[in-house]
Amino acid sequence: MNENKSTINWFPGHMTKAKRKIAEQISLVDAVAEIVDARIPFSSRNPDIPELIGKKPHIVLLNKCDMADDAQTALWIKYFKDTGAIAIAVDSKSGKGVGEFKGAAMSALGNLIKKYEAKGMSGKPIRVMIVGIPNVGKSSFINRIAGKSMAKVENRPGVTRGNQWFAVDKHLELLDTPGVLWPKFGAQAVGEHLAMTGAVTDRILDTELLAMRLLNILKVKYSSLLTARYGVDNLPEDDYEALCLIGKKRGMVIRGGETDTLRTANMLLEEFRNCKIGRITLEGIDFSA
Ligand code: G4P
Repeated sequence: MNENKSTINWFPGHMTKAKRKIAEQISLVDAVAEIVDARIPFSSRNPDIPELIGKKPHIVLLNKCDMADDAQTALWIKYFKDTGAIAIAVDSKSGKGVGEFKGAAMSALGNLIKKYEAKGMSGKPIRVMIVGIPNVGKSSFINRIAGKSMAKVENRPGVTRGNQWFAVDKHLELLDTPGVLWPKFGAQAVGEHLAMTGAVTDRILDTELLAMRLLNILKVKYSSLLTARYGVDNLPEDDYEALCLIGKKRGMVIRGGETDTLRTANMLLEEFRNCKIGRITLEGIDFSA
C-alpha cells in the first residue's frame, strides 16, 4: 500500500530547513494560503505556520472537502475565521471552491491593491505563497487554479532562482512552498491520523492497530455509516472484536472460522481513504489530539 507516498524520513533538520526557507521568502509575497486536509485540519497543519506568516493575510484552504463531513467543515471554517484568517472549503479534484480563492485573496488585499494604484502601479500582480505538508493537495490546487494557462515564472528580479512561481493570470501569482514542510508528529494521534488518510505511509504503524484506532473514531462519530456499509449494529466496545465482526460480515475468515484481521484492516483503511464508508472528518472541532 501507498508505495508512492512519502515515507516518514522526517527529522528536525528537514523541518528547520523548510521553515528557514519559508521565513526567508515570506517577504516576497503579499499573503499566505495554507492548505490543510479537511478531514484532519489539526494534524495536517504544521503548527509553526501562524508564527511564520506573522501579520500577512492568511487564507486557510480546507482541501479534500469532498471527502470530509460538511457539518464539521463548516465548524472548522468558523474556527479559522475566528483566528482572523479567511477560510474556504476546497475540492481541488472537482474545482469546487477554487474560484472563490481568487476573490478572497483579492478582497483580503484590497488595501494593498489600492496602494499600488495610488503609486501608479495598478495591475501589479498579487503574490501568494502556498504552504502545506506533503500530500495535502498543493499541486492539485495549483494545477486547478492555474489550469491550462499555468505558466511558470522564472528568474524574476529579486526572486530567488529555483522557486516555483506560477502565474494564474496577470493579477495573481502563486509561490509553491519553498522546501518540504513536514507535519509535526507530536501527539500519537497526529501520526495515526496522517497514516489513516494516507498522507504518510501506514508502514510506520501496525496495520491492524491503525484500523482499530480508525474504527474507534468511526464507532463514536459515524456509527450509522458503519452500519450502512458493513451491516453491523452496536459494534462491540472492544476495537479488536469490532474489527473481527466487520471482517466476518465481509467473509474475511481463515481456516477455523477466525477473522483474517490483516485483510480486514487493509480493507477498512482503503475504504475509508477512498471515501466508500462516507464523508468523514476524523478531527472534529471539539477533538483534541
Ligand atoms: P501535494 O502536492 O500537496 O503533495 O499533493 P497532491 O496535489 O499531489 O495530492 C495528493 C493526493 O491527493 C493526490 O491523489 C490527489 O489527487 C489527491 N487530492 C488532492 N486534492 C484533492 C481533493 O480536493 N479531493 C480529493 N478527493 N483528492 C484530492 P493520489 O492518489 O496521490 O493521486 P491521483 O489520485 O491524483 O492519481
